[in-house]
Amino acid sequence: MRDGRIAAVGARSKVEALPEAGPAEKLDVEGRVILPGFVDSHTHLIHAASRAEEYELKIAGASYEEIANKGGGILNSVKKLRAATAAALKARASAALREFAAYGTTTIEAKSGYGLDVTSELKILGLHQELDREQPLDIVSTFLGAHVVPAEYRHTPGGPQRYVGLLVNRLIPEVAERKLAEFCDVFCDRGAFSLAQSEQVLEAGASHGLAPRVHAEQLSRTGATQLGVGLGAASCDHLEQVKTADIRALAKSKTVATLLPGCDFHLGLKEYAPARALIDAGAIVGLATDYNPGTSPTLSMPMVLSLACTQLRMTPAEAITAATVNAAYSLRREKEIGAIETGKLADLGVFEVEDYREIPYYFGVNKCWMTIKKGEIVYRRGAR
Ligand code: NIG
Ligand code: FE
Repeated sequence: MRDGRIAAVGARSKVEALPEAGPAEKLDVEGRVILPGFVDSHTHLIHAASRAEEYELKIAGASYEEIANKGGGILNSVKKLRAATAAALKARASAALREFAAYGTTTIEAKSGYGLDVTSELKILGLHQELDREQPLDIVSTFLGAHVVPAEYRHTPGGPQRYVGLLVNRLIPEVAERKLAEFCDVFCDRGAFSLAQSEQVLEAGASHGLAPRVHAEQLSRTGATQLGVGLGAASCDHLEQVKTADIRALAKSKTVATLLPGCDFHLGLKEYAPARALIDAGAIVGLATDYNPGTSPTLSMPMVLSLACTQLRMTPAEAITAATVNAAYSLRREKEIGAIETGKLADLGVFEVEDYREIPYYFGVNKCWMTIKKGEIVYRRGAR
């Protein structure tokens, strides 16, 4: 590694014979397994608090939508975020980022979407920028003003459409102008945004240079996948409810199918996304945590790999590919990260296992021993 990048890769004999190997400092990982650092391509990093109070309701049988309809769900987190100071939000996110690193993650995507008004959304996106500058992991920012319609726009006729207008005419232009995000996302679903509204938001984003990503076919099948593919979306995420035609559209496209099995696990749902059908059809499959307080309160990519293997029937190799190089592609960073290749950033996870398959095999256990970001050690087991 040199200047934060991978200078050479290969067998010990070959690398040690290079002239620049002589003065190089040696880091002995003693036979452990090294992977490209995980690229977590779907997180809702900035939120004020957990929703542990809803967890028991879910266990007792209330559905995600029933809880949301009673003012819980995303709106519960919006209320908490609006009341929180930027300093408190930042402290919580900073702690989370240290934990991401402890599980071998070196880049995360982060979505706004718990503010849902001009001030709060800009506050979240500003924090993405600050945190990206001030701590080692890279943060790729996504504007998700279209998470749900905020309470104050819900109960007047035409309210939801006025909120879409605020996103399209005010927030998206400002976010793009101030370079606060690279992507624009929409939660297209029952109880969130319709297909037509989603199209408006994504097109506005794209026309301002924010590439589309979509929360698609999570709770119900809306057609969001084919909308996303049609707009050249970088990623369609969730996909539990996709139909054969959606799978075919993804397979023919360069849009990554990002699967989030942590959601189904946390919500106790039996229907996971059809990963095998997607892979076998030729779609580019990614995996991410969807770290958020409502559907997936985990930041462990190794746990997501375990779920991908046992629940989505992906092989460990497919799951690791989905969590690294394919995820990097969905963030338009495939030239920089996601693989151990000469010239790429020196972003690595080192695992205390003898065989890479043991990373998902030991589920719920953190085998990450060291994490390296741009050539610097950012996590070491046992170190404080
Ligand atoms: O990715 N589906 C929409 N958004 C999140 C859930 C957010 C929440 O419940 O707070 C998701 O699952
Ligand atoms: Fe999400």
